[in-house]
Amino acid sequence: MSSLTDVQNNTLQQAQQQIQQDLLTALQAFSLPEPLKSAVHHAVMLGGKRVRPALCYATAAIRPNQNRAAVRRAAVAVELIHCYSLAHDDLPCMDNDQLRRGQPTCHVAYGEDTALLAGDILQSMAFEILGSRLFDQGEAVDQSVILKQMQILATASSKMVCGQVLDLQAEGKQIDQQALETIHRNKTGALITAAIMMAAVTIFQGTDPAIPQLRQYGQNIGLAFQVQDDILDIIANTEQLGKTAGKDEQVEKSTYPALMGLEQAKAYAQNLHDQAFAALQFFEGQAQELEQISQFLLARQF
Ligand code: IPE
Ligand code: IPE
Ligand code: MG
Ligand code: MG
Ligand code: MG
Repeated sequence: MSSLTDVQNNTLQQAQQQIQQDLLTALQAFSLPEPLKSAVHHAVMLGGKRVRPALCYATAAIRPNQNRAAVRRAAVAVELIHCYSLAHDDLPCMDNDQLRRGQPTCHVAYGEDTALLAGDILQSMAFEILGSRLFDQGEAVDQSVILKQMQILATASSKMVCGQVLDLQAEGKQIDQQALETIHRNKTGALITAAIMMAAVTIFQGTDPAIPQLRQYGQNIGLAFQVQDDILDIIANTEQLGKTAGKDEQVEKSTYPALMGLEQAKAYAQNLHDQAFAALQFFEGQAQELEQISQFLLARQF
């Protein structure tokens, strides 16, 4: 699997270092029995691009040094939800995958029962962290920001589950572009948008016109992210991906390349990225880190 240090992108690399430390700190705050503790560590700490935390930090960087602890908690929480979604996505009753982030999947390493429960506990840990004082350094705590973050993350997590159900139902079926877009926006786009919006509420009031611009950016890169995941499943190899390539075709998943062909799917992803980039013009150069992450996402090969 391509490693974290292969990423030629400073913004992402710095985010990866920060989140790696913060995730470890967060996990150490919980006392879990074995083998749950090891399974959780396996699901969370071993690899991953850490795109969602990076998006949290990059959004907060538009107005630096405000509510830093709340941003760090949000980055941890969204990554924990993402890791839970992957542990469950790989289960035999779902995508039945053996390889994830270049490692055996959680259920291969620890058994289905423990992998299921690791996902379950990661979900509640995410919300416990959001509501905690982790990373606080004596700053005043704005409870309304924490409440908004919880609502954003809960809504996105529910959408992810609904998207996963629709994804499984669509296996082996012909569905139209609108139905496929609904699946992708829910199963993947919602959590990516949430990463951005949980940081946005730490720096902007609800009525600030920056909020809809950031949502627009998030929704576009969020949909593009799954379109590209579908493309990479075809054009990248297992070693690059750290997960089994070619799986979607094998199980007849409904994907963008299957629906419109590879070249059209690539053009569609590019178009979504262009729209995301356009939404950032509002910030007149203050959203540079988000621009850099978009560039990485468009070029990514894993
Ligand atoms: C994979 O997500 C699953 C999708 C939602 C497409 P990522 O590509 O972000 O996986 P990691 O975290 O880098 O392993
Ligand atoms: C996963 O989509 C979306 C999730 C909510 C985890 P995929 O099933 O395509 O993700 P990969 O390809 O297994 O990472
Ligand atoms: Mg899946
Ligand atoms: Mg999968
Ligand atoms: Mg996939």
